[in-house]
Amino acid sequence: MTRARELSTMPAASKLEDVKRELNQLIQGVKSSHQLMSEIVELLHEHMLKYNWVGFYMLEPESRSQPPMLALGPFQGAMTPHTRISLNQGICGAAATSGKTVIVDDVGKDARYLACSLETKSEIVVPVFVRGKVVGELDIDSHFLAAFKDEDRELVEYCAALVGQHLEKTPA
Ligand code: SME
Repeated sequence: MTRARELSTMPAASKLEDVKRELNQLIQGVKSSHQLMSEIVELLHEHMLKYNWVGFYMLEPESRSQPPMLALGPFQGAMTPHTRISLNQGICGAAATSGKTVIVDDVGKDARYLACSLETKSEIVVPVFVRGKVVGELDIDSHFLAAFKDEDRELVEYCAALVGQHLEKTPA
């Protein structure tokens, strides 16, 4: 049995602990926040079988001439047409402006949703904070309705917090 398959058949709680253990191991060896984000998206995409698209969007540095935008960072899954998203658009914009995790069980019923793939059915977006300010977010799409339960929220918030803590210590 492959490692990913083995993890997928574990009970939710022990799978979560296993993935967290792997996250804590990989954080030891990373040389930059960008590398940490790349490793996280790879690990989640590989191990969590309902996480069909996993990616970071990071807030671009503010400029006087342009409103702030979210720019696509490291991701795993099919290329998305949404490489830059303004803060008043999409589930991504909603999570960044509210500073709160947004879970959408059925994207077809949410008018805010910006389509990335026709197969996407549900989505979670978790903000990344540095010193209390939103600097980006971790966005995950699933081909399954209501894929994101309490334990998923806990895992994705844990990943976003790891990146926030790393960014506080080192620049991206
Ligand atoms: N669905 C997101 C856009 C990003 S793609 O899912 C990768 C949204 O509604 O903001």
